[in-house]
Amino acid sequence: MQIVMGVTGGIAAYKACEVVSRLKKLGHEVDVIMTENATRLVAPLTFETLSKRPVCVDTFTRTESWDVKHISLAQKADLFLVAPATANLLAKLACGIADDMLTTTLLATKAPILLAPAMNTGMWTADATQANFRTLQARGVHFVGPQSGFLACGDTGAGRMSEPVQIVEAAEKLLHPCRDLEGLRVLVTAGPTLERIDPVRYLTNDSSGKMGYAIAAAARARGASVTLVSGPVHLATPTGVTVVPVVSTQDLYDAMMAHCSSQDIIIQAAAPADYRPAVTAPEKLKKQDGQPFTLTLAENPDVAKAVGEQKKPGQILVGFAAETEHLLENAQKKLDKKHLDMIVANDVTQAGAGFGVDTNIVTLITHDGATELPMLPKSEVAARILDKVSELRTKAN
Ligand code: CTP
Repeated sequence: MQIVMGVTGGIAAYKACEVVSRLKKLGHEVDVIMTENATRLVAPLTFETLSKRPVCVDTFTRTESWDVKHISLAQKADLFLVAPATANLLAKLACGIADDMLTTTLLATKAPILLAPAMNTGMWTADATQANFRTLQARGVHFVGPQSGFLACGDTGAGRMSEPVQIVEAAEKLLHPCRDLEGLRVLVTAGPTLERIDPVRYLTNDSSGKMGYAIAAAARARGASVTLVSGPVHLATPTGVTVVPVVSTQDLYDAMMAHCSSQDIIIQAAAPADYRPAVTAPEKLKKQDGQPFTLTLAENPDVAKAVGEQKKPGQILVGFAAETEHLLENAQKKLDKKHLDMIVANDVTQAGAGFGVDTNIVTLITHDGATELPMLPKSEVAARILDKVSELRTKAN
């Protein structure tokens, strides 16, 4: 496959030679782009010899071909890897700065981007770098490392570039996405529900649907045939996914009862309203002129529980638990009560977790134990959930 590899001016640039060499041995074509500073650390000739291709440094170098080099490289890449990626590179990429061949090509590419950061601990832990890291992660940029250890500057701490073997392993994972859900039917729920009070008012919650949509897209990419039962959200339909739109929890219940028995995997990320107005007023309700207004609520069906009660042999059922206190304890209770195989416990009060944001902090709880995950982009959380689902399926079969 075609890999474009950026090399920036960190001392770990010498390790980038081994990365190129390993990628070539795996049969990949590698085009190396170096920053000016990188060329002070390793000669372009080294990379040219290893990659057997010319190395680009300058955006304005004239070559024998007439294509615009940064655009042609950006387009031909199946993967864009930068190793080492300095704090400066992270900052430029986060801001969309394109002031040399490498950053110009990176900005133009639609290929997956994998960065192997390498820098001094102070630089890595600096607020600015961490903010850039989170921004890039939330945009779907992939990272390998950095690791902790002895650094070239003499410090010990986080910032050390991952070893070439690990970088190549991470690259391979992105180049050959897993198709472990090929042929399986996956049903995902997402978003809030909306419960009508009168023609102009309703009850709802803060769910954006992002987590469920990320799961649906990831399951599709892994080969599944995906149905997404979605409450009202403002998100684009993931390619290749069948969307069943619903409004209220009762609609969600009806849709799930219609679809659940034919599914292999059901992942319920929706946040259905537990209550609805006992009566939906046919006309707009009028102000009570100083009198307290009471709205009587009726309980909605617990959809996940109903799905759990009809669980088919071999089916894997996953729920979410949105909690603001006693996270693990409450989530565990829901796991049992709703006959689930796994529950994704989500403390929605933490910054970077829960409703609306692009990242999440979750713990995956199965009947065998709990796996705590760090703050990750929702796309990555989706991947980890599906990894666990695959593991559960393998165990069950
Ligand atoms: N759920 C459901 N039907 C409901 C409420 C929740 O199917 N009426 C599902 C959600 O999609 C999620 C799981 O149940 O997968 C847990 O949802 P959550 O809102 O955390 O819990 P509740 O069961 O509503 O309990 P509580 O509000 O008391 O925390």
